[in-house]
Formats: sequence, C-alpha cells, structure tokens
Amino acid sequence: MKKIIVAIDGYSSCGKSTLAKALAGRLGYAYVDSGAMYRAATLYLLRHGIGIGEEDAVEAALDDIHIRFERNPSGNRTLLNGEDVEEQIRSMEVSAVVSEVSAISPVRRAMVRQQQNMGKHKGIVMDGRDIGTVVFPDAELKIFLTAAKEIRVARRYRELKAKGIDISLGEVEENLAHRDLIDSTRDDSPLRQAEDAVVLDNSHLTPEQQLDQALQLVHDIAGATT
Ligand code: DC
Repeated sequence: MKKIIVAIDGYSSCGKSTLAKALAGRLGYAYVDSGAMYRAATLYLLRHGIGIGEEDAVEAALDDIHIRFERNPSGNRTLLNGEDVEEQIRSMEVSAVVSEVSAISPVRRAMVRQQQNMGKHKGIVMDGRDIGTVVFPDAELKIFLTAAKEIRVARRYRELKAKGIDISLGEVEENLAHRDLIDSTRDDSPLRQAEDAVVLDNSHLTPEQQLDQALQLVHDIAGATT
C-alpha cells in the first residue's frame, strides 16, 4: 500500500489523538500531535515569564524552542529542548492560554514549518486544527472529527480526573468553550473543515469503531493505487 498523509482536524477533546495514535499504530506510520507543539511553546513562554502580548519577545523566544517527539514504554512523549514535558503541557495552566499563544502568527509559522518537515516522507498521521487546510492541504486523506459538546466535556473531565487533576465539570466546559471560540475565530488559519475532508462524528462510536471507519477510508485511498 502506498504511503499517504492523514490529516485529522477538529475541536478540542473530540478524540483526535486517540484516533490518530491508533491509526498510526495500525498503519506503521508516524504520529504527530500538533497540539502538543503549541502546548510546549506555551509552557516555554510561561516558564520564562514572557507575556502573550509581548510580540517581539515571543518571536525571539521561538528560536530557543525546539520540540521533538519520542516513544517510550509509557507512550508518546513531547520533548521541549530535550526535557520530557508530556505531563506539564497537559496542565490547566497551559490549557488556559494555549489558544491565545497558538493565535500568534509567528508561533504558527514556526510550528507549521516543523510540521511540514515531519511529513516530507509521508507515512504520517497528524492531528490538530489546521492540518488539512494549511499544513498539508494536499493530504490524501483528511478527516474532520466531531462529537456532541456534552460528550466532549464528559470525556475531557474523565481524562483530567484520571490524572488526579482537581477540576469541576463547569470548569472543563468553560475551558472547552473558550478554546473552541478562539480556535475557530482567530485571524490566522482558524479551525475549519477542509472542503475535501470526510466528516466523522464519533459521539456514539467506540474507539474501535472509529478506527475501523478510518482504516476503511485509508484503504479506499491508499489501497486503490497500490
Ligand atoms: O489539540 P490540543 O487541545 O492539545 O491543542 C492545544 C491548542 O493548540 C488548541 O487550543 C489550539 C492549538 N492548535 C492549533 O492552533 N493548531 C493545531 N494544529 C493544533 C493545536
């Protein structure tokens, strides 16, 4: 089967990374969580006390932000300048401002450049908000993942609770609504469904069922041209 690029976009907590990870595993492809890159950049700025409004300082900091991914027995790890920050980037402190950071154009340019490099040899599944529209507009398969709002909130709540994070359902709902709004209304590459994307609503699908549907889509595209 020929190697393709699979772009998965959608709102926060739609299950994009669950699907992308599983799909990459089954296909033997690389998996890139582009949101983790924006989160790592946000963590860097927070740690260095660089305000989101300080455009010049943010732009200067980008040269010092090097992100890569590693796989170890506990899964995919995000490395910021060589340090494993997988846990820190999922904190509420980062979640609270990551949408604002990812709306900054120089930040997007730096991340998109790195993401396009990662896809040079195809055989990659990348999830995010602008993967099918900006990062890989020529991706062979674009999936736009959706799920009902209350299901997304419940999933995210369970995920955070499982990590021992003390948070209320209302706070989770507020954070998701806040990020949805900023992600879809920012000037630079807002979240939107690519015209040629396949919409997959996983509100009532198990992870296995959504994986089967996505695998079928891959086989329809990549298998047909073997
Ligand atoms: O997927 P996530 O929730 O971890 O992403 C964190 C934030 O990063 C999200 O609020 C929007 C931003 N993001 C983006 O702007 N573009 C991407 N390709 C991926 C994420």
